[in-house]
Amino acid sequence: MEQIILTGDRPTGRLHVGHYVGSLKRRVELQNSGKYDKIFIMIADAQALTDNAEHPEKVRQNIIEVALDYLACGLDPVKSTMFIQSQIPELCELSFYYMNLVTVARLQRNPTVKSEIQMRNFEASIPVGFFTYPISQASDITAFKATAVPVGEDQAPMLEQTKEIVRKFNAVYGDTLVEPEMLLPDNKACLRLPGIDGKAKMSKSLGNCIYLGEDADEVKKKVMSMFTDPNHLRVEDPGQVEDNPVFIYLDAFSRPEHFERHFPDYQNIQEMKAHYTRGGLGDMKVKKFLNNVLQDELEPIRNRRRELEKDIPAIYDILKEGSMRAREAAARTLDDVRRAMKINYFEDMDLISEQAKKYARSCG
Ligand code: TRP
Repeated sequence: MEQIILTGDRPTGRLHVGHYVGSLKRRVELQNSGKYDKIFIMIADAQALTDNAEHPEKVRQNIIEVALDYLACGLDPVKSTMFIQSQIPELCELSFYYMNLVTVARLQRNPTVKSEIQMRNFEASIPVGFFTYPISQASDITAFKATAVPVGEDQAPMLEQTKEIVRKFNAVYGDTLVEPEMLLPDNKACLRLPGIDGKAKMSKSLGNCIYLGEDADEVKKKVMSMFTDPNHLRVEDPGQVEDNPVFIYLDAFSRPEHFERHFPDYQNIQEMKAHYTRGGLGDMKVKKFLNNVLQDELEPIRNRRRELEKDIPAIYDILKEGSMRAREAAARTLDDVRRAMKINYFEDMDLISEQAKKYARSCG
């Protein structure tokens, strides 16, 4: 079977380091592993509109930001097809059929949608499009016959929903769709990177993100203002590394070569944590080290982004080309789907002759 990746992001803002460790970095590794026959990376503008119907400009403006971040991180348009969701009308068609295979009760149980509804204070006025976006996400994945979906942990309920739709569709209409597998980062700290304020999630509205491509000074300022263990008041005090954002970031980003280069007192993160836990290692030193680590990781991304920013029309060309290729792939799946559902009436010569025979009999 062909190995196919599909994944994507909503273009509601620039991508941040949480996106990077949670999924982007993995995508680039998978892309370069040579193990995949096709890779589709989607900018999910239509999904972004499900809770931004009144702010289409925000979505429109952020498409280029996401595309620049993708390319700056190392996604390569030769190896990965980058495209814009709304340019693939086949996805809407597929969703329309899938809607008949999913109950309202099932959608109401989706934990990600539940918490998003709370976050957006939607309780009494949930847009139907927003409520049904897990179905549309199932279309995104299955339209490309994706076998692997590298995403952050919060997307697990969407993958579950997708698998259910695939099983149901195949049971009702015959084997047509492919069940995808979710690929999570192996490193636990990368699953959900907290904001610099220690809140559970990085989010633009909370103002607690470090963006990819952000200036070095700005990154440093943010790292220096990060939350740590609130009870670690003096350097000699024993500190706590669990739930301490600075250490979660170090777990996500630091490698032994960073210690060699910037903090040779320790060989690795375990030694550093042990010192912090017993007391005697100040937050200032830890933050300085984290800043150095982040700068090492972000500098090449930032530099590539600055280069890419010099030719914006070329970026739109990449997306246009990708959207054309993606549309062809989705159209092939839709042909299979219509055939399986037997709604391909005009190609269905058996149906036409069967109906003709029926009427020949009744007339005769
Ligand atoms: N829901 C994803 C997000 O919020 C974006 C997305 C849309 C997606 N369709 C997808 C991710 C299909 C993976 C596969 O970022």
